[in-house]
Amino acid sequence: MAEIRKTLPGAAYHSTETYAVDKERVFYRNWIYVGREERVARPGAWLRAEIADESVLVVRGKDERLRAFYNVCRHRGSRICDDEQGEVRTHLRCPYHAWGYALDGTLVTTPMIEKDEIDRESTSLWPVHVEVWEGFVFVNLSRETPVPLLESLAEHPDDPLALARVGLAQLRTGHVSTIDVRANWKIVIENYNECLHCPTVHPELVSVLPAYKKGSIFEDGRDDGGVTLADGRTTVALDPRLRLPLLPGLKGDEGPQSYYGALVYPTMFLDVDGSSALATAVFPTGPQSCRLVTEYLFSPEAFDDPAFDPKPVVEFNELVTRQDNEACERVQRGVTSRAFEHGVFPAKDSWVHLFDQRYLRDVEDHPGIERQDS
Ligand code: FES
Ligand SMILES: [Fe+2]
Repeated sequence: MAEIRKTLPGAAYHSTETYAVDKERVFYRNWIYVGREERVARPGAWLRAEIADESVLVVRGKDERLRAFYNVCRHRGSRICDDEQGEVRTHLRCPYHAWGYALDGTLVTTPMIEKDEIDRESTSLWPVHVEVWEGFVFVNLSRETPVPLLESLAEHPDDPLALARVGLAQLRTGHVSTIDVRANWKIVIENYNECLHCPTVHPELVSVLPAYKKGSIFEDGRDDGGVTLADGRTTVALDPRLRLPLLPGLKGDEGPQSYYGALVYPTMFLDVDGSSALATAVFPTGPQSCRLVTEYLFSPEAFDDPAFDPKPVVEFNELVTRQDNEACERVQRGVTSRAFEHGVFPAKDSWVHLFDQRYLRDVEDHPGIERQDS
C-alpha cells in the first residue's frame, strides 16, 4: 500500500500559538481579498476590513485613487471608523479627540492643538498596500513591498486569472451576505478544496452539478477545471428554469453552462457559473472562528430588469454554505481532541494537500508547525 500523506497536526487548527503565526506569516504578508471596488466607487467612500485582528480602511481619494490605511489614529491610537462602510465629504474624523485625516491619509485637523505643535507631514495614517484585479480589491499588510498582485495571482494552481474571461470587472453586486463560522479558517479552506463530502453533505448541490456525485472536484472528460450544470441551467440554483442574463464574456454562448471554482490563497473563493459570480472572503476572527462575507455578482444587464431578483442564487448558496459550515464546525470540535494528532489524505483530497503545502511554505521553519510528510 502506498504511503499515505498526513494532514496538519491538530494544534494547527486550534492553538493560539498557531493563530499568532498565521497572522504574521499568512495574513500580514499575502494579498488579502477585502471587497468589490464598487463599494468604494465614489471619492470619499470607504470600506473597513478586519484582517485577523488588524482593522484596515480602503478609501477612495478626491483624485479617484484607491488607498488603504490602518484604521488607527496617530494621536493616541483610537480606531477611527466603526461602521462597515461609509462615505465622507472631505476627511475621516477620529471619534475620540476629533483629529481629521484627508482622504489621502494626511492629518489635516487637530482641534484645540497649536497648529505647529504636531508635524502633520509625518503624522499621516499608516498606509497599507492596495491593488485591484477585475474589480476585486486586495490589501497587503506587509512592511516590505510585496510582489505585485497580478504576479501573485498567476502562481495559483486554480488559475483564477483565467476566470477574467467572463467579464468579472464589469459585474455588479446584487447581494452581500455575512456568516460567522466556529471553525479555524484553514478548516473552511480545506473543505472548499474537496468534494469527497459532496454526496453526503450536499444532496441539492450534487443534483445541480452531477459530476460531484463521484466525490471529485473534476468532471470526467474535461480538462478545463469546469463542471457542467444539470438540466440546461445557466446558474447554480435549485430551479432549472431560472434564467438570468449570461455573464458578459459568455454572451452568445447559449450551450450548456459550467461552474468553475477557484481558491485565491489564502482566503478568497471565486465561484463562477453562466450567470453569476460569487466572491467569498474568509476573515479569521480567532484561532477557532472566522467570518465569511459573500458578494453575489451579476451581469450589469440583470440590473436593467426591474424584476431582477438575486434571491434564488443567494438562497441556494446559503443552503450549501450552511451545510459546509456545520461540517466545518464538527471538524473543529474533533480536531481539538487530544487524540487527533493528524488526519490522512486519500488521493481525492489532493487539492486539500496542495493548500496545506502552500500554507506550510508560509509558516515553514516555525517551531511547532512541522511538515507531516516525509
Ligand atoms: S485618539 Fe484620535 S484624536 Fe485622539
Ligand atoms: Fe461543501
